[in-house]
Amino acid sequence: MVTIRVNASTPYDVTIERGDAWLDRVPYFSCSTVWVITDETVDRLHGTAFRTRLEASARPIVWSVVRPGDGSKSLATIERLVADGLTSGCDRDTLVVAFGGGMIGDLAGFLASVYMRGLHYIQVPTTVLAHDSAVGGKVAVNHPLAKNAIGAFYQPAGVHYNVDRLETLTDRDVLSGLGELIKHAYLSRYVLGYSFETELFTALAQGPLDWEAWLARGIEVKRQVVETDEREHGVRAWLNFGHTFGHALESVEAYRLAHGEAILYGMVYAFLVAGDFSRAETLAGFMKQQAITPVLWQPFEAYLEVMGHDKKNRTGQIRFVLLGEEVTVTSVTTERLVEAYNQLKGWF
Ligand SMILES: NC(=O)c1ccc[n+]([C@@H]2O[C@H](COP(=O)([O-])OP(=O)(O)OC[C@H]3O[C@@H](n4cnc5c(N)ncnc54)[C@H](O)[C@@H]3O)[C@@H](O)[C@H]2O)c1
Repeated sequence: MVTIRVNASTPYDVTIERGDAWLDRVPYFSCSTVWVITDETVDRLHGTAFRTRLEASARPIVWSVVRPGDGSKSLATIERLVADGLTSGCDRDTLVVAFGGGMIGDLAGFLASVYMRGLHYIQVPTTVLAHDSAVGGKVAVNHPLAKNAIGAFYQPAGVHYNVDRLETLTDRDVLSGLGELIKHAYLSRYVLGYSFETELFTALAQGPLDWEAWLARGIEVKRQVVETDEREHGVRAWLNFGHTFGHALESVEAYRLAHGEAILYGMVYAFLVAGDFSRAETLAGFMKQQAITPVLWQPFEAYLEVMGHDKKNRTGQIRFVLLGEEVTVTSVTTERLVEAYNQLKGWF
């Protein structure tokens, strides 16, 4: 078992282990009600076992299930969930449990931040990608004009991974999760002072990863960044590496691509913008080998428009996180963006 302490404004532990022994250790269950938010797929695969285990907490359990996919990350779903909570007796002492991937973590975390002006919540992540989303307290739902446009910084009381649940993920969802892990590997050099980029690509070439060890490494990067800059005034923006174009791709593709897949394309694009063809080529090669979902390329203006709405552009300019000797967060000319786009399209 691995435990990582995150010293955010309200500190909490991230535990990664096989099984759910964390349920016997944590102090949360003095709450009035346990309110689990999950999606249909996680419910079908893991719901019964988790619920049986939770029942030992001897608290009433409210169980809300939403449709899988980013389409559920919406204000409409929040309204429906609030109705579930109100009609099931959830009160200010209810503990929200986000049981699922990053979509559920963002949705349930946002629900916890607004329901009766704020409930405690914990993350029980079930995807590889959620090693990123479950840590750091960014919670949100999407708006038709922009992803994650309605949200808050709201730290969980704990994050508890049972890596056995990752075994039921599809190859595509594993690849999507690897997108964020690879991002953390690229950032490790700048954040931790040493790089595990080469080590990760070597391990990936050798076969399935030891999740306990590798998720911990990704989370270590995230922890360091969040502790330094919890509310994204500076260094936390680095975590958006690959996300400027990635989010636009996700949105233009109407969420047909998994989040991490879009980020993988976004990172290749960011390397091309920075003129780092070597890393762009290595990453693109890995993605093709993993049979990444192909993009239905659109005229560049479609992506440009969405990037213009992106919430990270406080100055009205489209800003990119670029990796070189240092990390820079910078605006880029449209000519350069179009050139890199044509290169990217040519590769996939
Ligand atoms: N808050 C943050 O800091 C942050 C960071 C990165 C990404 N995100 C968000 O995370 C979301 C993407 O996360 P995700 O990829 O985990 O998406 P997801 O939650 O939609 O899960 C992907 C798919 O896997 C299924 N699934 C989940 N666990 C499973 C399991 N154990 N076995 C089989 N299937 C399982 C889900 O039903 C879904 O179909 C996006 O909404 C993105 O915006 C948030």
